[in-house]
Amino acid sequence: MHPEQYDAWYETQKGAWIGNEEYRLLASLLAPRPGETLLDVGCGTGYFTRRFADKATEGNVVGVDIDTEMLRFANEHSEPNIGFVAADARQLPFRDKSFDLVVSVTALCFIRDEKQALSEMLRVARRRVVLGLLNRHSLLYLAKGRRGGRGAYRGARWHTPTEALHLFDGMPVHHAGHGTAIIVPGGKNWSRRLEPLLRRCLPGSGAFIAVAAEVQPNSRS
Ligand SMILES: C[S@@+](CC[C@H](N)C(=O)[O-])C[C@H]1O[C@@H](n2cnc3c(N)ncnc32)[C@H](O)[C@@H]1O
Repeated sequence: MHPEQYDAWYETQKGAWIGNEEYRLLASLLAPRPGETLLDVGCGTGYFTRRFADKATEGNVVGVDIDTEMLRFANEHSEPNIGFVAADARQLPFRDKSFDLVVSVTALCFIRDEKQALSEMLRVARRRVVLGLLNRHSLLYLAKGRRGGRGAYRGARWHTPTEALHLFDGMPVHHAGHGTAIIVPGGKNWSRRLEPLLRRCLPGSGAFIAVAAEVQPNSRS
């Protein structure tokens, strides 16, 4: 998708709501501490990278993506203190434990060999890794995810919350929490108002899954 078109969606009423809900969940799981450094893997146009740089951490923030057009947009629309690097998530050009926090928002679901990308994220993380994924047990999957997916979801891999948690199996981490958001994805007023209630009544059924893992001290992935 064209980066201008992709990023403009976050300016729509629906996109702004979804972006805010996803950010709220990711930030609660990242629990950044002042001065921590953060890497955003598969950063796209930098929407979340900019938000993490603004609110989540005072330290260095870097976004990585394989798509240079996305990175061009991210660079042009971000403060110069955010770095953007072209790289494949499966082979990150950083030394072990270079960043306190690593986040990846709906990118792993587009990357073939998700285990390799995940072990790279863990390799460069010092403290915590948080993944944003797409939930196969959600209304959004029924609307946009089946038969290979439609629009921006074409080609995405959808996980169940249980599968998302199992991604970290055998890796040197502790589970550090998870959650879902965006239960009724239409973004209408009523669905936005009902979201907090629905989240309590139907936990695990939001379209967006976030899962957090704490890197074990002294681990070498
Ligand atoms: C759906 S977009 C998500 C962008 C951004 N994280 C967001 O939530 O707005 C998925 C991104 O993953 C990137 N991507 C796909 N495969 C990748 C890979 N192997 N290495 C790095 N980035 C990759 C794509 O270029 C795209 O920008």
